[in-house]
Amino acid sequence: MMLNNRKYNFGSGPATIPTSVLEEVKEELLDWKGKGLSVLEISHRSNDYQELALEAEKDFRDLLSIPDSYAVLFTHGGATLQNAAIPLNLSSPDGEVSYVNSGYWANRSIEEAKKYTNVRIAASSQETNFSFFPPQSSWKLSDKQDYIHVTPNETIGGIALREVNKEVIPIVADFSSSILSEPIEVSSFGLIYGGAQKNIGPAGLGFVIVNRELLGSAQKTVPSPMNYLILEESSSMYNTPPTFSWYVAGKVFKWLKGRGGLKAIGQINEKKAKKLYDFVDRSDLYSNKIEKSSRSIMNIPFLLEKEELNNKFLTDSSTHGLLALKGHRSVGGMRASIYNAMPEEGVEALIEFMKLFERENL
Ligand SMILES: Cc1ncc(COP(=O)(O)O)c(C=O)c1O
Repeated sequence: MMLNNRKYNFGSGPATIPTSVLEEVKEELLDWKGKGLSVLEISHRSNDYQELALEAEKDFRDLLSIPDSYAVLFTHGGATLQNAAIPLNLSSPDGEVSYVNSGYWANRSIEEAKKYTNVRIAASSQETNFSFFPPQSSWKLSDKQDYIHVTPNETIGGIALREVNKEVIPIVADFSSSILSEPIEVSSFGLIYGGAQKNIGPAGLGFVIVNRELLGSAQKTVPSPMNYLILEESSSMYNTPPTFSWYVAGKVFKWLKGRGGLKAIGQINEKKAKKLYDFVDRSDLYSNKIEKSSRSIMNIPFLLEKEELNNKFLTDSSTHGLLALKGHRSVGGMRASIYNAMPEEGVEALIEFMKLFERENL
């Protein structure tokens, strides 16, 4: 069991945040930097907050080695608002864009984009119930298209695309559930976006990393707080940003730097996921149906051979201090989300519990 009665939280998001970050927040909450007020109460235009905001952006840039030719925007509205902002900023009502249909979240992006432009499906794994990620070599594209959209980590289905090569048209990627989980080559993408509530911090904050070359041709109707050029020119402060979430995100970035950055955390994440997949693959009670080359290292869904054991599994795991393991209703079974802040001991505790449950119930 962890310190402070904290349990292991396998929820998909809002997800576990490093305990040391929460402790720092608690420590500073009433009196931030000796100012006699909380960071929750300070103007986003004050010098102190501006300093915090710039430092968070710098750390985010350092972690991902984001080239200067890319703007970093901190946004409202999570990933979902960007599903609208992207076609509004990068395409037009008579333009054409491509989407890879890899599951639930890709579908959400597709349905939203259809309101603002003409959507083509470049590839899909729907026929196999999303058991693999459509490989880049199978994407059907034309250079007429304004961009190709992918969801490199499907949080619900547990499939992932972990290597992406640049295309002639810009690749736009929803990295909500795998940002900062391992190094990526930012310059392979035109735009990277997501919600913060998995690997970055509290909900309410979103991020957009966009090649500056793509800015400046937004549709006239795009709301100002969603216009990337306006956001870029105002340093993401066209209106009041989600200041507290931004502050916590800054602390998570420092925590990650302190752990050695993305290469180091990537190795840990790989190890955690391997342990769990190896155990599931060897077991008679649990199974994961995803093709091995497409398996996510962040979200690991698994089914129980006897479906009638699902409720008992959830109750017993919770008694063992292992929380939020219920799979999404569209997939059923269980799902362990093992983001950066889930320690290796948490995964080991889960495996120990799963072994015990298997012995007692199979
Ligand atoms: C891959 C992916 N995209 C989009 C979303 C939606 O994010 P938000 O709720 O921040 O809009 C989620 C949320 O879990 C997600 O996992």
